[in-house]
Amino acid sequence: MKVLVVGSGGREHALTWALRRSKRVKQIHVAPGNGGTAEIATNVPIAADDIPALVAHAVSGRFDLVVIGPEVPLALGLVDRLQAAGIRAFGPTAQAAQIESSKVFSKAFMRENGIPTAEAAAFDDYDAALCYLEAHPAPIVIKADGLAAGKGAIVCQTDAEARKALYRIMKQRVFGRAGDRVVIEEFLRGQEVTVLAFADGVRAVPMILAQDHKAAWDGDRGPNTGGMGSYAPAPILDAAMLERVERQVLQPAMEGMRRLGTPYVGVLYAGLMVTDGDFRVLEFNCRFGDPEAQAILPLLENDLVEVIEACLEGRLDEVTLRWANRSCVCVVMASGGYPDQYQTGYEITGLEEAADLEDVVIFHAGTRRERDRVLTAGGRVLGVTAWAKDLRGAVERAYQAVRLIHWPDVMYRTDIGAKGLLREGQPVPPKEAQER
Ligand code: AMP
Ligand code: GLY
Repeated sequence: MKVLVVGSGGREHALTWALRRSKRVKQIHVAPGNGGTAEIATNVPIAADDIPALVAHAVSGRFDLVVIGPEVPLALGLVDRLQAAGIRAFGPTAQAAQIESSKVFSKAFMRENGIPTAEAAAFDDYDAALCYLEAHPAPIVIKADGLAAGKGAIVCQTDAEARKALYRIMKQRVFGRAGDRVVIEEFLRGQEVTVLAFADGVRAVPMILAQDHKAAWDGDRGPNTGGMGSYAPAPILDAAMLERVERQVLQPAMEGMRRLGTPYVGVLYAGLMVTDGDFRVLEFNCRFGDPEAQAILPLLENDLVEVIEACLEGRLDEVTLRWANRSCVCVVMASGGYPDQYQTGYEITGLEEAADLEDVVIFHAGTRRERDRVLTAGGRVLGVTAWAKDLRGAVERAYQAVRLIHWPDVMYRTDIGAKGLLREGQPVPPKEAQER
């Protein structure tokens, strides 16, 4: 079968890598891909948000399946357009993708379906929102309604910060039309965990849990990023809590979508905040997480194409997900200065030595190939991924690989997975052991 993967990040490299392991897949194109996907598939220079060109490529190339990584093409209706053209596509329709593409929709959806979440109110009027802030002191969270490349949720520790965030979103319109409306939400404390589930329109079957590391620097300090690393499985929810997540989050979401006439097919992402044996949903996303996918997919023992087909055919009940009895860690290596200003175009060395280590795979994100060299080309550059029989082993292996890879202004966190080790009651490796 011929598969087209849409996207250019580490998640899409991981998806391509997992699809390549399927016996069923003969050929993969990635649009637009990166320096890593170029090595294992064919990159085609079509942007992930160029819906007409993606549909045209899928039709003219007679692709059997399109797998969509990022939220933007989903929100723009790529799945709807591919379906209309008779091509199978894995992901929700534009209407179902509103669970991520509109925070106002998502909040109302959670409330209507009894899904536990933070108290919140939605506004399309600046003065009304400002009034609400006066009655609800900081800490508080202000979220632009629309997609804002992961930057649309602003956690405000002081009232002044909250007023400034509201002004920037609604008056200065720093996120454009995504800021026409805002959600103002109660600040929640606790540990975040990502629940990803395969969804077939009726059922949602959770994968192993993962934990992202959103802050740029060690100890969860510094600005929020797209994600600086991840590990799976994350020991955050016990079996009873996971059962509650299925009963109170995943199933109501699937039923709510069906009632709206837009059954949810694809991957459903629930970001939870866990506090003292309880949890609430911070956000839904309409796709795999990045970098969660990089830590989860290497442990999936099923043929990914078979799972995807079961989702598309509404028969996920026939599939039992099987996971390697391993832990997997993904350490993101980024350009110095990310998520703000950074330089690109540096040559990356040591990739082959690192990839030669056993049970290591290096997922590329912001890279490009120039003849036989690999150059940095984005904020998040690589997701260095390793697995071992336990989390400690996976952390050590991943950092062993990280230490072999160099470019002039590389930046990475040295504590990916540490929260999981603490949770398991294990000592965290000393920092100096992880630094180059
Ligand atoms: P979102 O765009 O809704 O995914 O939020 C992005 C990040 O902001 C989350 O992963 C959290 O780290 C943080 N966040 C969002 N909502 C809240 C909240 N109500 N309380 C505390 N932190 C939050
Ligand atoms: N890792 C967070 C996200 O993919 O949205």
